[in-house]
This record gives sequence, C-alpha cells and structure tokens, in this order.
Amino acid sequence: MTEKHRPVLLAETVSALVKVEGSNGTFVDATFGRGGHSVEILQHLGPEAKLLAIDQDLAAVEAAHRLAGSDPRVLVCHGRFGNLRGSLQSAGIEAVDGVLMDLGVSSPQLDDPGRGFSFSSDGPLDMRMDQSAQQTAASWVNEAAEADISRVLREYAEERYARRIAAAIVRQRPLHTTSDLVAAVRAGQPRGTPGKHDATRTFQAVRMHVNDELGELRRGLDAAFESLLPGGRMVVISFHSLEDRLVKRFCKSLTSSQALPRRIPVRGQGGSARALSVSGPLRAGEQERAANPRSRSAVLRAVERVA
Ligand SMILES: C[S@@+](CC[C@H](N)C(=O)[O-])C[C@H]1O[C@@H](n2cnc3c(N)ncnc32)[C@H](O)[C@@H]1O
Repeated sequence: MTEKHRPVLLAETVSALVKVEGSNGTFVDATFGRGGHSVEILQHLGPEAKLLAIDQDLAAVEAAHRLAGSDPRVLVCHGRFGNLRGSLQSAGIEAVDGVLMDLGVSSPQLDDPGRGFSFSSDGPLDMRMDQSAQQTAASWVNEAAEADISRVLREYAEERYARRIAAAIVRQRPLHTTSDLVAAVRAGQPRGTPGKHDATRTFQAVRMHVNDELGELRRGLDAAFESLLPGGRMVVISFHSLEDRLVKRFCKSLTSSQALPRRIPVRGQGGSARALSVSGPLRAGEQERAANPRSRSAVLRAVERVA
C-alpha cells in the first residue's frame, strides 16, 4: 500500500487561500489526507499562524499528528467538515482566515484493499472514510431496499442499468467483499462501457451514499463560509459534477446581489453580495493532467467573504 497522495492544483490552491503572504492568521485544511496541501500552505504562513488539520479518516489524522509533531502551528482534529463548527469549538477557534476543502477520497484510501474502495482489488466491502462510523458498504447493500439501491445508483452515478444491478445485488446477497459487488454488477449489466470498468459507477455511488458525501458537502459549505472572518477565503476542489454543481450554486448565491431562489440558504442583507469570486472554475493544466490523472476531473472554486 502506498502512503502517497499527490495534491491537485497545489499552487492555485495556495494562492487562492492565502491572501497575504506570511499571514499569521488561522486557516483550516478540512480534508487533510496526507497533508500535501497543508505542507505547502504552511510554507506561505508566518510563525504565529495556526492551521487546523481536520479529516474523518483515522489514518489521515495520524499523519496530521506526525506533521503537528514537527510544526507547532498545526492543530489536529478527527471530525467531519459537516460539523466544522464543533471542530473549531474543540480547538478553541472562533473564526478563521481561510478554509480548504479538497473533496473525495485520497490515494492511500483507494490503494488499500482493506478499505474496500477499489473494485480492482479484493477486500472487505467497507468504503467508510471514517473507520469509526457504523454503516459499511456491506451493511448497506445487504439491508437496503432494492428501490433505494436503484435510486442511489441512478442519482449518484447516472447508472443506466441501475434497476438491473440493484436486482442482481439483492439476488446475490449477502455480499461481503468488493469482488462480490463486482460480480453482482456484472450479473446485472447487459454490457459494459468501453474503457470503463463495469463497476466504476456502482462503486462511486455506493461510496457517496455510505459517506453521505453530498449531505456533508452542503453542511460543510455553509459551516465553512459562516466561520470566515470578513476578508477570509474558502477554496473548494471537487471531482464530480454533482459536487461541483453544489459548490457552483453555493458560490453564486454568495457572490450574486440579485434576488435568489428561496431554497438557497445564504443571502446578504437586502440582497447584497456576501462574497467576491476569487477564482474558478479553475482546472488543471495539460502538464498536471498528464502527470496526475486524478487532476483531470478537478475543479477549483474560491470565494472571499465580504460581510
Ligand atoms: C482528496 S483527499 C485530500 C488530500 C489532501 N488535500 C492532500 O493533499 O493530501 C480527501 C480527504 O478528505 C477526507 N474527507 C472526505 N470527506 C470528508 C468530510 N466530510 N469530513 C472530513 N474529511 C473528509 C477524506 O478522508 C480524505 O482523506
């Protein structure tokens, strides 16, 4: 298993997040992973700055503790960014100058067969980003109603054979391993899509459901923006069109001064904009795309709070 994770859009992230070079402000890396972004951010902060490293994955938190051991500016919290308020409170922080959210899974999570994220190696059907969470992918696929499985496959991955795959999963229960899920997908799919593994979409959808990734993102965006000081910045990197759609609408709701649809929660007093757009949508350049395939689907958006 490799411990490496190559951070995407590294220079772009740091320049969007750290407004003043050498700042002694307080920053949050809400998706620490293996700290690729954090280490670079710290290079651009002053000696009195603070960086709160958050991750829901215990292995990532262990890595953050290692970094904190060599850099006293780093504080560590095991938690979900959906509960950013709670993490800030437990660290004694009220408001911050910047928050980074680099969404999705890390390479070490994907590369460890024991975590069950990958269809290409056999392992327990787990997929929990937070190993202390109750529900695994296996417990969900083995207990969920067929209609719910079908809906998740359709909504999160636009799986055209969602109904057939859901029926095959139910027929072949109980599933215990990633190979069991791959076999169920193959049994339900009349034919694969050239160039894509048969189970790509199903694994993505089940992972997003088990970790409530879109729910977390909605709560995380709100909490991150509300924790910013005026002039503070929020940077979000997404890897999936559903995520990016949420981020885009959220940023638009903050930066637009026009009347907004009723269901968008954040809006300035009297319809005035609460944020300025700093950058985005920003994508990786040719060189990065060639060197790091993960970067091909990455989209960065950043806003600065004005009120
Ligand atoms: C793409 S990786 C981040 C990589 C990191 N920027 C780096 O350079 O090493 C995403 C990380 O976010 C974590 N994560 C995903 N959703 C989370 C959430 N809701 N709360 C906290 N951490 C989350 C995952 O466990 C994973 O470690």
